[in-house]
Amino acid sequence: MYEATRFVALPPVANRNAKESSMCGIIGYSGPRKTTAILLEGLRRLEYRGYDSAGIALGSGKSLRIVKTVGKIAALKAAIPADLEGNWGIGHTRWATHGGVTQINAHPHMDGSGKLAVVHNGIIENHHALRAMLEKKGCVFVSETDTEVIPHLIAQYYKGDLLEAVKEALPKLQGTYGIACIHADEPGRIVGARNGSPLVVGVGSGEMFLASDITAMVAYTDKVIYLNDGEIVDLGVDHYSISNREERKVDKKIDQITWELGSIEKGDYPCYMEKEIFEQPESIERALSGRLDAENATAKLGGLNLDRRQLSAVGRVKVIAAGTSWHAGLIGCQLLEGLARLPSQAELASEIRYRNAVVEKDSLWFTVSQSGETADSLYAMREIQRKGATVLGICNVVGSTIARESDGGIYVHSGPEIAVASTKAFTSQLAAFYLFSLLMARMRHMAREDGAAFLAQLQNVPSLVAAALKQRDLIQAVAKKYCHAKDFLFLGRGMLYPIALEGALKLKEISYIHAEGCSAGEMKHGPIALISGEVPSVFLISDDYLREKTLSNIREIKARGGPIIAVGVEGDEEARRVADDFIPVPHSDPRFYPFTMVVPLQLLAYFCALELGRDVDQPRNLAKSVTVE
Ligand code: G6P
Repeated sequence: MYEATRFVALPPVANRNAKESSMCGIIGYSGPRKTTAILLEGLRRLEYRGYDSAGIALGSGKSLRIVKTVGKIAALKAAIPADLEGNWGIGHTRWATHGGVTQINAHPHMDGSGKLAVVHNGIIENHHALRAMLEKKGCVFVSETDTEVIPHLIAQYYKGDLLEAVKEALPKLQGTYGIACIHADEPGRIVGARNGSPLVVGVGSGEMFLASDITAMVAYTDKVIYLNDGEIVDLGVDHYSISNREERKVDKKIDQITWELGSIEKGDYPCYMEKEIFEQPESIERALSGRLDAENATAKLGGLNLDRRQLSAVGRVKVIAAGTSWHAGLIGCQLLEGLARLPSQAELASEIRYRNAVVEKDSLWFTVSQSGETADSLYAMREIQRKGATVLGICNVVGSTIARESDGGIYVHSGPEIAVASTKAFTSQLAAFYLFSLLMARMRHMAREDGAAFLAQLQNVPSLVAAALKQRDLIQAVAKKYCHAKDFLFLGRGMLYPIALEGALKLKEISYIHAEGCSAGEMKHGPIALISGEVPSVFLISDDYLREKTLSNIREIKARGGPIIAVGVEGDEEARRVADDFIPVPHSDPRFYPFTMVVPLQLLAYFCALELGRDVDQPRNLAKSVTVE
């Protein structure tokens, strides 16, 4: 479990104007353990973020050794000579932005002397100008990257003190960075700096870590310090100090990570995605834990940082999110509208960030993000905050940038989600919306008995999801039957329409099968032209007022020879008859089907991908946390 149920308002990040950063990974280590192994292990833990090359720089005596390779960490490991060891070092996984995927472009990058090495996440926007200036001074560049200007620039100022040189160089850099630097002449020392790209210090006993993500070091220490933009850390084997742009030392709180190491291990599962799908009963339980107020038939959400009066003044809700989180937002908005009678709308972060959006005085905004680092969502949130709105976060990663910069919010407590395709974070985000909707409804029109009934059903969601997971083998057989199809349609209505979108996204992401999510009612306005015997349609059938309408849509497809996979309610014999394959979920209040009906779709995507031999946890071209535009 995370530290607390509350969404802790952490100090704001200093530089709100920073632009983009990249999703590469950084690890640094200074201490008595075998540095090579620690760096490789850290990089392995960061693999989930998405990368295409990797490298390490090891300091030993007064020299640095660099090994870099294209491809996976296993390739890097194979390229490292068995006797290569060091006393301190830095490592990096690169997701190419400037310059192709080549060994030379992989990090670490060095200065001309070969004594100074830097790893960098982010994008240096003025790298052309800096490169020209540095070339005039005689620097020779070997890579096509923007990063290579950093070691050359720092070297210009180096007079025996790495920290001083970094401090002098940083103001010349425009753009975003999380960097870690080492110098051969200063054994054990690592200097890191953050501007728009996460960096966390890990405090061990007699050893220190620096990483872009706590998963890289959670095996060794549970004490971390999140750097803010503009902060620089200077660390050695048993000490660290942090200063800000004004050169003032800052005293920072050490946070305790409460993750178990097991939560970032696969355990007995073949891959993280399967583990995370099957963890959902517990992860939803955690999202709800401590937040149900049975006595008052409402929800308790202490982290919102809004009092009763402020909450009752809310006239509308807006949600900013991307990908799977946007789908959770779409459902959340339908629920808020139905339950609390609040006009609500979910917006794609990448769209709203470039629109001159109207921010109504009575609007309350949410940014939903598993990682809390998605650039589109973060920059959209900042723009909305600039317009004076209160923006809350619904985040999974504690201490992430969105969690820190939002005005309050709800941590979903799914635990670390490692597979690129999001599953358990999605159902926990739903849980957060269900809690918030209950709270808002009870402050408005919802009677106590209705609140109590809703709350009881919400409490029952983990067991409903556990029951839905029991169809594993059936879904695997369905996946085997259909996984060679080139196109899939996913169709649903009402709250199941966003679930159809999510089902299509899951299938695309990990199996690379083309899939489209549609409102079942819209099918006749276009997508029906796609129907043929080769295009399976996955229908989501609730047992509410939309059931009959959905069954008619199915018949329209059947009449045109399209195969039907139906996810419906246990005991719905008509749905079973009309479909070629029927996957049942347990009966519940229809408002809760989004939780149970997404499960078969997650498993369908998973088993199709497995059947097709895909890399389920790290699908091609995707990254877990997209911190570039
Ligand atoms: C990436 C991931 C998706 C995720 C989306 C939003 O595209 O591959 O799985 O849904 O980002 O991520 P967030 O961390 O903001 O929820």
